[in-house]
Amino acid sequence: MTDFPADGILRRMATILDGKKVADSIYTKLLFDVSLLPSIPKLVVVLVGNDPASETYVRAKTKKAATLGLRSETLTLPSSFSEEDLVKTIRGLNDDKDVHGILVQLPLPKGIDRYKIMHAISPLKDVDGLHPENSGRLAEGNPRLVPCTAAGIIELLRFYSVGVEGKRAVIVGRSEIVGRPVAQLFLMHNATVTICHSKTRNLEKEIRNAEILIVAMGRPKFVIGEMVAPGTVVVDVGIHRTEDGLVGDVDFDSVAKVASAISPVPGGVGPLTIAMLMRNLVQAAQLKSLSQN
Ligand code: GUN
Repeated sequence: MTDFPADGILRRMATILDGKKVADSIYTKLLFDVSLLPSIPKLVVVLVGNDPASETYVRAKTKKAATLGLRSETLTLPSSFSEEDLVKTIRGLNDDKDVHGILVQLPLPKGIDRYKIMHAISPLKDVDGLHPENSGRLAEGNPRLVPCTAAGIIELLRFYSVGVEGKRAVIVGRSEIVGRPVAQLFLMHNATVTICHSKTRNLEKEIRNAEILIVAMGRPKFVIGEMVAPGTVVVDVGIHRTEDGLVGDVDFDSVAKVASAISPVPGGVGPLTIAMLMRNLVQAAQLKSLSQN
């Protein structure tokens, strides 16, 4: 037996973009930033209803805050809670001087307009970066609080010295939480950006054209090795619980054979989403302490 591939061409293994390692380096810096603040930042997570996946995500966020010595509280509200009462609750948190960051976990129960809720959060406490003042600032290239997963992807690429300038970055997915803010960040870093979505014609051709491919489409193992050009840097934002365990939107085994770098699921983008939430919380606390000076 030989380890040589059948076609005789030796290929380098793809670099694994290890999100946990990057997150740990971010936490080291955050702890220093926190030490300079006049008080320990406090996050309030608002969870409406009892979606099990949301409960898991919220637990992960508050647990990490506790590990870092940050304060957090989860406000669990019944799915029958009205939109009007939710807006009132948020206004109360906006006025609470002891609260630095507010996150309303999505999705919200049917009948609650998520835009009304996101718009009710003070833009200075909007650790999700979804308030139109924050998304507008990002669109003008002057960001303040940036959506966590999008910011995490940029940090992941920065840590591994993946240059973005002038590259063809293809983003599959146009959500407000990931696709759109990632596109804005790539534009800010002078990439040539293509955003693909469910109506894109010839998606495979677009994917093959990517030098950097960000997949956030919500379909398990959709992107396979044959779709990807050799040497592409692939970031997988998907996460799905399947019989094979947790998988992403990318078929890791086949894509890792052609990519120059790839983020795994789990352990890729996920840890960075939480790290960026913690960074946004610290940034919100910094914004508050600046406004008091
Ligand atoms: N649900 C899934 N991802 C997110 C996120 O980044 N923020 C909020 N608020 N809810 C989510």
